[in-house]
Amino acid sequence: MDTIYKRYSVRKYLKEGLSSRQQDLMDHKINAIKEQGLFGNEITIHLIKPNIKQFKLSYGRIQGMAGYMYGYVEKTIKGYIDYGYVMEKKLLEMTKKDIGTCWLGGTYNKNYFNSIDEVDNKSIPAVISYGRNKKKKDNKTRKRKVFEDMFFEDELDKPLILNKADKLYPAFEALRLAPSALNKQPWRLVKKDSVIHFYQYIKKQEFNISNIDMGIGIAHFEYGLNINNVPYKWFKGMVEGTSQYMYHISVEIC
Ligand SMILES: Cc1cc2nc3c(=O)[nH]c(=O)nc-3n(C[C@H](O)[C@H](O)[C@H](O)COP(=O)(O)O)c2cc1C
Repeated sequence: MDTIYKRYSVRKYLKEGLSSRQQDLMDHKINAIKEQGLFGNEITIHLIKPNIKQFKLSYGRIQGMAGYMYGYVEKTIKGYIDYGYVMEKKLLEMTKKDIGTCWLGGTYNKNYFNSIDEVDNKSIPAVISYGRNKKKKDNKTRKRKVFEDMFFEDELDKPLILNKADKLYPAFEALRLAPSALNKQPWRLVKKDSVIHFYQYIKKQEFNISNIDMGIGIAHFEYGLNINNVPYKWFKGMVEGTSQYMYHISVEIC
């Protein structure tokens, strides 16, 4: 769980830029890597190397020597979920190497990014700034919803009680600490025996930036399952959502 606890949105980066070890990860494991999300969308990762002049790409909200990571995906709910999933898995690899990161869905120069490249029917849903981290921050006390407000058993109104020693606990906790746009934490999970259904809390039935959060949450949940080597399988269940809870995907614990 160290990586999950270590991650937080870093908005000030050191002027030194990345260490050679960190740059090596970016060059060989992140840059130009193509990965598929759970709904089949393929995303290729593009990087803009850290540069002091790039503050203009995020309206000064991001300070210091920042680089940017982005990709293109279809403007659909499933496209955005896959984007969050693929990018967050890479972001966690970067966190492991102490590279600071911050998702930017609003406070960045969209005109600039949209003018770099034109890709048929695809767009950049959000970007991630990255750079050398200033100080470590432990996020165990982060502002998050409590377990019982996000995780349920059998029905969406019955809180899930999960012992900390349970092999599934790290997965739920890793998801709880995931980043989300405006810290909205739209994830709602319902556990029914060995299956967990993933819903998104919504005000309106529409596709929006919170779909990215769903993919990010799924990546964190998967990360947590892997901590205890729990075998799992993602699948699209025969589950209906409601006007408030949009159903996306389920995972079976094998
Ligand atoms: C899809 C997405 C978009 C975001 N957009 C912005 C943004 O435009 N500007 C910003 O400063 N932070 C942005 N954030 C960071 C969130 O505010 C942050 O993740 C949340 O407040 C939780 O804090 P933490 O990441 O430090 O745990 C975004 C996060 C996500 C996941």
